[in-house]
Amino acid sequence: MEEIEAQIERFIKEVDEHALKLYTKASKGKRLRAKLIIKIAGESESAYKLAAIVELIHAASLLHDDVIDDALTRRGSDSINALYGDKTAIMLGDILYSKGFMELVSYDREIAEAISAAVTNLSVGEMMDVNLSKSINLNQELYFEMIYKKTAVLIEATARSAAHLSGKDSEAFALYGKNLGLAFQIIDDVLDITMSDEQLGKPSLADFKEGKTTLPYIYLFESLNQQDTSTLNSLYKKELTLDEGQWIRAKMQESGAVLKSIELAQKLGYEALEAIEFDKNSDLERVMRDMIEREF
Ligand code: FPP
Ligand code: MG
Repeated sequence: MEEIEAQIERFIKEVDEHALKLYTKASKGKRLRAKLIIKIAGESESAYKLAAIVELIHAASLLHDDVIDDALTRRGSDSINALYGDKTAIMLGDILYSKGFMELVSYDREIAEAISAAVTNLSVGEMMDVNLSKSINLNQELYFEMIYKKTAVLIEATARSAAHLSGKDSEAFALYGKNLGLAFQIIDDVLDITMSDEQLGKPSLADFKEGKTTLPYIYLFESLNQQDTSTLNSLYKKELTLDEGQWIRAKMQESGAVLKSIELAQKLGYEALEAIEFDKNSDLERVMRDMIEREF
C-alpha cells in the first residue's frame, strides 16, 4: 500500500505543491478500492497507478460530499471544509478528480469508460440521496437505486477494471464489487441503528435525523401499526431524546427490520462469493466475510 500512497502524492505534486499540502490534512480512509485492485489484478505498476487514480476520485467525491452535507468531521478528524472552508474543499476535490481523469486516459478504453461512467452515476446517486432526504421515502426501489449509484457503482467499476487489467473474468468481479458495495451500504445503515456513539466513533441514529429513510426504516414502516407509524413519523428529522432513541431501537429489533436488512446484505455477499468462487481468492473472501459475518 505504500507504493499506492506514494503514487497518489506524486500525482498531486505534479499538479500543485499547495494542493498536496492540503491533501495531507485530509484523513486517508481504509483504501478499500485500492486494496480491491491489488487483490484482483496483483502487484504491478499499472495496478498501483489505477489504484491511485480511483482513490483520487473517491477522495474528491468525499471532499464534495462533506460540503454538501455540511459535515465538520470525516473519519473522526476535521474535514477539509471545516479546516479551510467550502471553497477550498471544492477546489481541492476538482484538482483530485480531474488529475485522476487525466491519468485514466492512458488505460484501455474499457477501463476508462467503466470508471468515467461510474463517476457520472456517483454524482447522480449523490443528487438522489439529497433529494430522498427531503421527506420520508418508503420506496425500496429508489433506495436501492440510490445506494447502488452512490456507493456500489464505483466499487463495481473498480473491480471490473482490475479484472480487465489482469485478463480475468470482468463480469464475475464486477458482480463481486457491486454486491460488496451494496452490502457495505446496507450494513452501514444497520450499524447507525444498532451501535452506540462510542462504537461508531460518531453519533448513532443520525440517518433518520438527517432525513434518511434507510432500508431498516423502510422495513420498519412496513410492519408498524397506525399508532406506532405516527410516532415514528413524529420523530423524523428530530433531535432524539434518550427514550425516543431507545424506542426506535426496540421497534427495529422486535419488528425484525434490522434482521431482515442484515439477511439481505448477507444474501448479496454470498451471491458475490459464489460468483468469484473459481478464483480461489481467500483475501477477497475474507473482505466480504469480515463485513457480513461481523457483530451487529
Ligand atoms: C458519501 O455518502 C458520498 C459518496 C459515496 C458519493 C459522493 C459523490 C459526489 C459528491 C459526486 C461528485 C463526484 C466527484 C468525483 C467530485 P454519505 O454522505 O452517505 O456518507 P458519509 O457518512 O461517508 O459522508
Ligand atoms: Mg456525507
